[in-house]
Amino acid sequence: MHRPDPHSYYDAGQPKARRLRLKLGVDFAAKRIDGEVVLEFGGTKAGPLDLDTKGLEIHTVQVPEHGPVTWSLGDVDPILGQRLRIDLPQDAQEVIISYRTGAEAMALQWLDPEQTEGKVAPYLFSQCQQIHARSMVPCQDTPIARIAYHAEVNVPEGLTAVMSAGPAGDEALPGDRHLFRFTMPQPIPSYLLALAVGRLEARDLSPRARVWAEPETVEAAAWEFAGVEDMILKAEGLFGPYPWDRYDMLVLPPSFPYGGMENPRMTFLTPTLLAGDRSLVDVVAHELAHSWTGNLVTNASMEHFWLNEGFTVWAERRILRTLHGDDAAALGWAMGQKALEDSLARFKDEPHLTILRMHLEGIDPDDAFSSIPYEKGARLVAALEKEVGEDRFHRFIRQYMDAFRFTSITTEQWCAFVDETLPRALEAVNARAYLDQPGLPETAPQFHSAQLDALAALADSWATGGRPTDAQIAAWKPAELQVYLQKLPRQLSQADCAWLDEHFQLMGRGNHEILVEWLTLAAAADYEPAFPRIREVLLRVGRMKYLRPLYGALGQHARTRALAREIFAAASPGYHGLSRRVVQSVLEAYSA
Ligand code: BES
Ligand code: ZN
Repeated sequence: MHRPDPHSYYDAGQPKARRLRLKLGVDFAAKRIDGEVVLEFGGTKAGPLDLDTKGLEIHTVQVPEHGPVTWSLGDVDPILGQRLRIDLPQDAQEVIISYRTGAEAMALQWLDPEQTEGKVAPYLFSQCQQIHARSMVPCQDTPIARIAYHAEVNVPEGLTAVMSAGPAGDEALPGDRHLFRFTMPQPIPSYLLALAVGRLEARDLSPRARVWAEPETVEAAAWEFAGVEDMILKAEGLFGPYPWDRYDMLVLPPSFPYGGMENPRMTFLTPTLLAGDRSLVDVVAHELAHSWTGNLVTNASMEHFWLNEGFTVWAERRILRTLHGDDAAALGWAMGQKALEDSLARFKDEPHLTILRMHLEGIDPDDAFSSIPYEKGARLVAALEKEVGEDRFHRFIRQYMDAFRFTSITTEQWCAFVDETLPRALEAVNARAYLDQPGLPETAPQFHSAQLDALAALADSWATGGRPTDAQIAAWKPAELQVYLQKLPRQLSQADCAWLDEHFQLMGRGNHEILVEWLTLAAAADYEPAFPRIREVLLRVGRMKYLRPLYGALGQHARTRALAREIFAAASPGYHGLSRRVVQSVLEAYSA
């Protein structure tokens, strides 16, 4: 037995599925998917086949020509779920499993009409990263076992299905149902399987990019992301030709637990990016960059997650730099520095979660999630770039993409490749300190600009009475205001809060990075005028990046703790299961 991924029952000694054929019947009344999956092999030897499942009801397992075969479900592991062991006969080309998703499938969020913008139709979306694909489809749920797929999705007439794949036709079915077909010819890791069903409309942004959203938000989304083709061109300059044909985006309802998810051919995005001023499109640059770093060259397991996210953050800031200049990129690095420091503080008693090459046996990858693989990882990449120079590093990136395209690799494979292509560079930047030691190495690159230093100095002078001038207040771009707020002392007085709100009109901000940074400061100051806005945001938005700091800041005063508990009681039925878990853990830490 050889199990290369601590988060999967996948056994590398067993046959590996090359392609999945899915039939998914979406049942909004029961909040279940009735599924049939065909796993295609290139012929197998007789023996066991171990698949991942979580909460699935398995109905039948068959092999064409052989009929039903024996199978068994193992014990429930709270992290991995249940192993489905199938006894394969000699020369099975395919295995057909019919099943139904469980009531608590973590990959799926079923929304009632009231939780959508239009409030007239239900909505379903999936989120499979890290290890939730197994709650939607029985499969070899590890990035090592890449799969192509074909899918047929049966939904109520009037709703549209989209997937992380190319559309392959649709047709009306009897009984007021509609069938959508999809095909993903390239092999992808299972965490990139994705589905959404709802009342959806699309707007073209370029010949190869369009945005999908509910009709009520599609115009705003098309305006906000109008610059996407420019970003694709910049990303191609870094990485080479875009490898996935189309780049489409879906703007989800506000309970979507992440900012964005790089599902191939269909990036999923939170509607909190619709700031009305294009100030949050760096998230699109990030998800787009994953088309190469993550989707084309993939981490072999979540222990190597930094390979996906560290490279992608680096690429995101490179794209930002070419589009908006050095100052904008420096502000991006400063925001990252803040996120990194917050995560290092959160894991101060769990230093093993602050190294890049993680060891996650027995650890739920969702619990290990933080900004560390993103920001510490990006700093390692930037350090290498600085060491060898931009031109040489540019060539290295192209070679890296070529060498590993459509494969999933470990940190060790990456190190071996760097050693070969950029001899001695790893030693020169002390890569071991990033990969195997906690915290951030003192030699990590620092990102400065005159603008950034001025913002930091002004924020530092807050306690001694330093305040931005009216001219600064009028001139700052959203990113400058965000960095300024992030650098202010965490414990402000109520008078400080009143000053800030009066001068920056913070309560009405559409940019959620600014709004939530402000509300976090206000919560920590027990500033009552902000409570209604805090309630509104926490009832509407399920993005974990915002829930954690906001609920956390509410923990500092008896009155705000009571407010947090009351809001959570009302909001929690509308939260995604992942978001609910995060907030529960934050609230539990209150009493400790
Ligand atoms: N792949 C991640 C989202 C993710 C990570 C989902 C881990 C599940 C488990 C995505 O690319 C991402 O990093 N999103 C960020 C955007 C950002 C760093 C610009 C987010 O959601 O905030
Ligand atoms: Zn990412």
